[in-house]
Amino acid sequence: MAAQPYDLLLRNGQLLRSPQHLEKADIAIQGDQIAAISPHLQGSAVLEIDVAGQLVSPPFVESHIHLDSALTAGDPGWNQSGSLFEGIEIWRERKQSLTLEDVKQRAIQTLKQQATQGVLYVRSHADVSEPTLTALQGLLEVREAVKDWLTLQVVAFPQDGVYGSPQNEELLEEALRLGADAVGGIPHYELTREDGVRSVQRIFELAQRYDRLIDIHCDEIDDDQSRFLEVVVACAIRSGLGPRVTASHTTAFASYNNAYALKLMGFLQRTQLNFIANPLINITLQGRTDTYPKRRGVTRVKELWQQGLNVSLGHDCIQDPWYALGTGNMLDVASMAVHVCQMTGRAEIDACYNMVTWQGARTLNLPVYGLDVGQPANLMVLDADSRYEAIRQRSVVRWVIARGKVISQTEPAHQTSFLT
Ligand code: FE2
Repeated sequence: MAAQPYDLLLRNGQLLRSPQHLEKADIAIQGDQIAAISPHLQGSAVLEIDVAGQLVSPPFVESHIHLDSALTAGDPGWNQSGSLFEGIEIWRERKQSLTLEDVKQRAIQTLKQQATQGVLYVRSHADVSEPTLTALQGLLEVREAVKDWLTLQVVAFPQDGVYGSPQNEELLEEALRLGADAVGGIPHYELTREDGVRSVQRIFELAQRYDRLIDIHCDEIDDDQSRFLEVVVACAIRSGLGPRVTASHTTAFASYNNAYALKLMGFLQRTQLNFIANPLINITLQGRTDTYPKRRGVTRVKELWQQGLNVSLGHDCIQDPWYALGTGNMLDVASMAVHVCQMTGRAEIDACYNMVTWQGARTLNLPVYGLDVGQPANLMVLDADSRYEAIRQRSVVRWVIARGKVISQTEPAHQTSFLT
């Protein structure tokens, strides 16, 4: 009797099997799982695609985005100064008019835009500083609505500070009761340094009580005296929660003096903390109060990576009060990291690709990720034969496969003829 055909067979791929390992092989999918991987797979399939040496990669991981504010740029006003704080003020006004439908429509539109570009894992922050928790409830509904094709984590993010107004602490806890995956914070935007320290300690207490991940907007400011990362480090060491904790942005780390930064690097070795840099937005937001020399304002990505710490990269914002640009393309993010962080060595370019794939998966604490037999069939095919070419050309993602189904297909850009 003839063998049962596979549901899907990709022939002649360059498979990215691990951060270190590229392998020419065919890959077969049955149902929602990877059924076989081999250089020359026998058998047939309902759908067979010859990918002709193109890169077959695990999906992109967007480890830091704000879906609740996505696609609102210019509403109710444009951020003229380009600063974080003007963005917060514009958002404070916009969020008064949030409805569940408004949040869900923009979030799903953004997630579809991301998914067609290979993003199948997303961690989004939801502002929990407004009393109706509309942003959070909307994103929790979206998490459910998209679960057949994308994994969404939602962080309860107190944009105006845990202690910025009397009800915020309770709203943060209520968000965890409602089902947020992670608890967030913004210690550098609390009213005092003491409130900032207290907020970090409270976040760790809540994470332990509700058994949630932690992702804190930490030191997103050019102030070299903004030192809440050391508080996060201390709490991580004392609680042992390190791998479940993420410090997002940490842009002040780029402004610390080296003596302090090196001491902190030593402490970080004891934590297994995750870092997320958002180079697209922080190269534009930071340095706004500088004349010249003007700081880059992106955390010490290269040095953290060289120290063996887990660093992933996020888009942060797509068309919102903090960043009016963006398409959701993670290769734009990786490319900006290559430039801003001066990671132009060949291994460094590959590392930037890994920061939007494997390292992001580690930040999200995903239980399974990668291309292995028996794993969920989540993958993408890029119009490139290496990570370097994918970043250099910002290659098109030709096919996106989620839970074993082809959910997106994109033709490569039209070829241009030089006519002279
Ligand atoms: Fe953010």
